[in-house]
Amino acid sequence: MSKIILTGDRPTGRLHVGHYVGSLKRRVELQNSGEYDDIFIMIADAQALTDNADNPEKVRQNIIEVALDYLACGLDPEKSTLLIQSQIPELCELSFYYMNLVTVSRLQRNPTVKSEIQMRNFEASIPVGFFTYPISQAADITAFKATTVPVGEDQLPMLEQTKEIVRKFNSVYGDTLVEPEILLPKNQACLRLPGTDGKAKMSKSLNNCIYLSDSADEVKKKVMSMFTDPNHLKVSDPGRVEGNPVFTYLDAFCQEHHFEEFLPEYANLDELKAHYTRGGLGDVKVKRFLNEVIQQELEPIRTRRKEFAKDIPAIYDILRKGSEKAEEVAARTLAEVKASMKINYFDDEELIRSQSERFR
Ligand code: TRP
Repeated sequence: MSKIILTGDRPTGRLHVGHYVGSLKRRVELQNSGEYDDIFIMIADAQALTDNADNPEKVRQNIIEVALDYLACGLDPEKSTLLIQSQIPELCELSFYYMNLVTVSRLQRNPTVKSEIQMRNFEASIPVGFFTYPISQAADITAFKATTVPVGEDQLPMLEQTKEIVRKFNSVYGDTLVEPEILLPKNQACLRLPGTDGKAKMSKSLNNCIYLSDSADEVKKKVMSMFTDPNHLKVSDPGRVEGNPVFTYLDAFCQEHHFEEFLPEYANLDELKAHYTRGGLGDVKVKRFLNEVIQQELEPIRTRRKEFAKDIPAIYDILRKGSEKAEEVAARTLAEVKASMKINYFDDEELIRSQSERFR
């Protein structure tokens, strides 16, 4: 069986380092591994509209930001198909048929939907489109017969829901759809990178994100003002590394070679953590090191992003071509789905013949 990747992001803002360690970096590695027959990377604008119906301009503006972030990180349109969700009408058709296979109570139990409803204070007024986006996400994944979906941990419930839809569809209508596997980040710290303020999640509204497109100065400012252990007041005080976002970021970003380069007094992160825990290591020193590490990772991304941004029409061209290719694939799957459901009346000679018999 072919190995196919599908994943994507909602274009509601520029992508940040949480996206990067949680998924983007891995996608590029998977792309370059040569192990996949096809890779589809989707800018999920239709999904973004499910909770931004009154702000289409925000979604529109951010499509190009996300595309630039993708290209800057090393997603290569020669190897990966970059597409815009709303340009593939087949996804709506698939969603419409999958809706019959999912109950309202099952959607209400979806933990991601539950927490997002709370976060947006939607309780009494949930848009139907938002409520059903797990179904549309199942359409995204199955339209491309994806076997592998590299995403963050928060997307686990979406994958569970997709698998259920696939099983249900295949059992009712016969084997048609492919059950996907989620691919989570390997490194625990990358599963959910906290905000620079120590809050559980990076979010634009909390103003606690480091963006891939931030300038070197902005990154430095954000790193140097990061939340750390609030009880670590004097350098000599013992500090806590657990729940300290500076160390979580180091867990996510730093490798041994960074010590040789920027902090040769320590051999590795364990030694640095031990010193911090024992006392005698100041936050400023650790933050300066983190800044060096992050800058080294982001600098080439920033440079490539600026380069790509010089030719915006070319980016739209990449997205148009990618969307066209994606639509061909989705159209083939939709035709199979309709055949399995036996709603392909005009292609079904047997149907036409047997109906003629019946009326003879
Ligand atoms: N829900 C994803 C997010 O919020 C975006 C997304 C839409 C997606 N369709 C997808 C991710 C299909 C993986 C597969 O970031």
